[in-house]
Amino acid sequence: MTISGKAKLAGVMGWPVGHSRSPRLHGFWLEQYDIDGAYVPMAVRPEHLQAALRALPKLGFRGCNLTVPHKEAAIPLLDRIDDAARHIGAVNTVIVEADGTLTGRNTDAPGFIANLRQGAPGLTLDGATAMVIGAGGAARGIVAGLIEAGVVEIKLANRSPEKASAIAHGFEPYVVTVPWDERADRMDDLDLLVNTTSLGMTGQPPLDLPLDGLPRKAVVTDAVYAPLETDLLARARARGNPVVDGLGMLLHQAVPGFAAWFGVEPEVTEELRRHVLGA
Ligand code: ATR
Repeated sequence: MTISGKAKLAGVMGWPVGHSRSPRLHGFWLEQYDIDGAYVPMAVRPEHLQAALRALPKLGFRGCNLTVPHKEAAIPLLDRIDDAARHIGAVNTVIVEADGTLTGRNTDAPGFIANLRQGAPGLTLDGATAMVIGAGGAARGIVAGLIEAGVVEIKLANRSPEKASAIAHGFEPYVVTVPWDERADRMDDLDLLVNTTSLGMTGQPPLDLPLDGLPRKAVVTDAVYAPLETDLLARARARGNPVVDGLGMLLHQAVPGFAAWFGVEPEVTEELRRHVLGA
């Protein structure tokens, strides 16, 4: 990889930003495709987000990713928001247009679906029934992706019912809320089960979700990717369910941004997975 005075520039804004795997991910592709470019972590305090975004064109940046806590806050600060970002209520990818204006996109939904299609090629999403656990920012992107892919019913279970109701309202009529205490009893017709909470992540308790009622053909996937095999995925695998880990969602959501900034549609490969995991 070379970085010349004409290098194409992008990065990720977060606060903190040290945990982000995006520099490692985009850095791998820059190297692989021998692109004159750089992708840098940018620690941006919430109160500086507007100034930092507006500085992008002045610094010659092609755009950036946004991570916690900027994904929702950026919406009113940009010039244009795509339909997905507006519906999900969060931006993860910012593009600097030729005239210096800023467009916000959300690529979580297609990233989630691309990972699922790659990891569970036997699953037909069109006409499927899914259960989604959790109702935070990750859940919104995943619900949007599932509906876009043709899922006809999404059972949404969240510890706090009002957050589940808010998502159900935003995605009528596809989402039905399931009381938290009934989540394990409403699985008999599922084709897909998704954990979108942070439970199961290293340092967090595991997701409390008995799988006895889940059909063995149902695919189980987890937005958590550290560890790669969460307690949920290990239990699902042990009883014979197909499982898809969450790392691919991170990798696939990065593809449209890289393509827009650096001009190459990058591939998600096993080598990339190993590289990002090695961080
Ligand atoms: P993100 O935006 O990354 O999805 P978030 O908005 O903090 O993160 O959402 C975290 C999700 O994990 C929420 O659905 C949260 O449930 P609540 O809405 O009830 O807070 C869920 N969650 C976190 N800890 C939990 C726990 N101990 N038991 C059940 N759900 C939990």
